[in-house]
Amino acid sequence: MATVNRHHDSDAASLAVVADYLTALMTKSSDLVVVTDDQGVITYASPSVQHILGLSDTSLVGTRARDLWHPDDKPKTAGHLARFVARTSPGAIANVRARHNDGTYRITEVTMTNLLDDPVVGGIVLNARDITERIELESQLMHAQKLESVGQLASGIAHEINTPIQFIGDNVRFLGDAFDGLLHPGANADGADTDYLEAEVPMAIEQTLEGIDRVATIVRAMKAFGHPGTDEKAPTDLNEAVRNTLIVANNTVKHVADVTTDLGDLPRVWCHPGDINQVLVNLVVNAAHAIADNGTAERGHIAVRSYVDGTDAVIEVTDTGCGIDPGVAGRVFEPFFTTKEVGRGTGQGLSLAYVLVTKRHGGSISFVSAPGKGTTFTVRLPIAGTGTRRHDTPSIQEAACPA
Ligand SMILES: Nc1ncnc2c1ncn2[C@@H]1O[C@H](COP(=O)(O)OP(=O)(O)OP(=O)(O)O)[C@@H](O)[C@H]1O
Ligand SMILES: [Mg+2]
Repeated sequence: MATVNRHHDSDAASLAVVADYLTALMTKSSDLVVVTDDQGVITYASPSVQHILGLSDTSLVGTRARDLWHPDDKPKTAGHLARFVARTSPGAIANVRARHNDGTYRITEVTMTNLLDDPVVGGIVLNARDITERIELESQLMHAQKLESVGQLASGIAHEINTPIQFIGDNVRFLGDAFDGLLHPGANADGADTDYLEAEVPMAIEQTLEGIDRVATIVRAMKAFGHPGTDEKAPTDLNEAVRNTLIVANNTVKHVADVTTDLGDLPRVWCHPGDINQVLVNLVVNAAHAIADNGTAERGHIAVRSYVDGTDAVIEVTDTGCGIDPGVAGRVFEPFFTTKEVGRGTGQGLSLAYVLVTKRHGGSISFVSAPGKGTTFTVRLPIAGTGTRRHDTPSIQEAACPA
């Protein structure tokens, strides 16, 4: 009997040690743990919640979790909670802004788990992590990458403008001389040869106008491309975005490839046009690099296609380049993954494209590649934009609710 009791005593003691251990872990962890009932009323909040939200003396028990969140994020989280109560599906993730006591917002990545039927917990568990700094760093990197690609394209664009400007200059100088000859026939021994002028002057004028048109087209494309953009999505002509992209990237592409387009009938797509231009230029420049790297001196081919598929607008960029080695295919969207030498690539183009397409637009980006033959990247964007909110913050990622 005494042995059994002693056994019980040591069980209780070790349980107490485990309980102390778990409590200390929970108290000291920087991860936020909140448990709510099926109505979203908080039944437990770990001390880190108060610490991170600057609520040192305020107990959160009895308040509603949604009251901590940014008004724009409430419908989303309410939807999740409802789905969680209805089903026993674990682990949906959403980025939610939580209000700090000083009125600012912290961005938290929240995982929800339905433990309503668990006899001990009996609630919905929200595990959250403060990712504000990470998101800020990401957006700084995104900005830096955009500036870098603008810088890379700038010298190419200067080249593109220089050529028509030069022949505009040559033609206008010729017209000036011809006019001079007409005004002062005696000054030139040959005099003004009217037949010659009749043939050449209209041509010079035509070429000058063509050159001006070319410069105007480039400047228009640059303006559309360089537009700082707003936080609002706008109905956008994606085919126009493709054309503008091909103009600003022309100098990078024309030395290695011919470009063809097959642009379908697209409705206007709700998107951030600046983002889409950025995505397209990253894909087109990658395609040009892949062709330059395919080890042959032959010119390659870049084909850009657009079409509608169901509720999505789809853009495909196909190249006859070196292809993507299956060994690295899983890594190309990783930030800073590059196979290019320093100065030619920083490995940010596709990771930025991924963030812009998926997080900012609720779309998808994927590729198929045959090493040595070529690659097709496919971008799908929901025509109606994501949901009804037009102020999608880059940090807010709609969670894919588990089936
Ligand atoms: N069309 C393509 N064909 C073959 N490989 C590609 C293609 N697009 C991307 N890749 C591969 O994926 C890697 C990552 O591409 P990503 O655009 O992110 O970076 P990068 O082009 O190397 O540098 P950056 O875009 O920052 O200048 C590339 O280094 C290349 O190895
Ligand atoms: Mg790139």
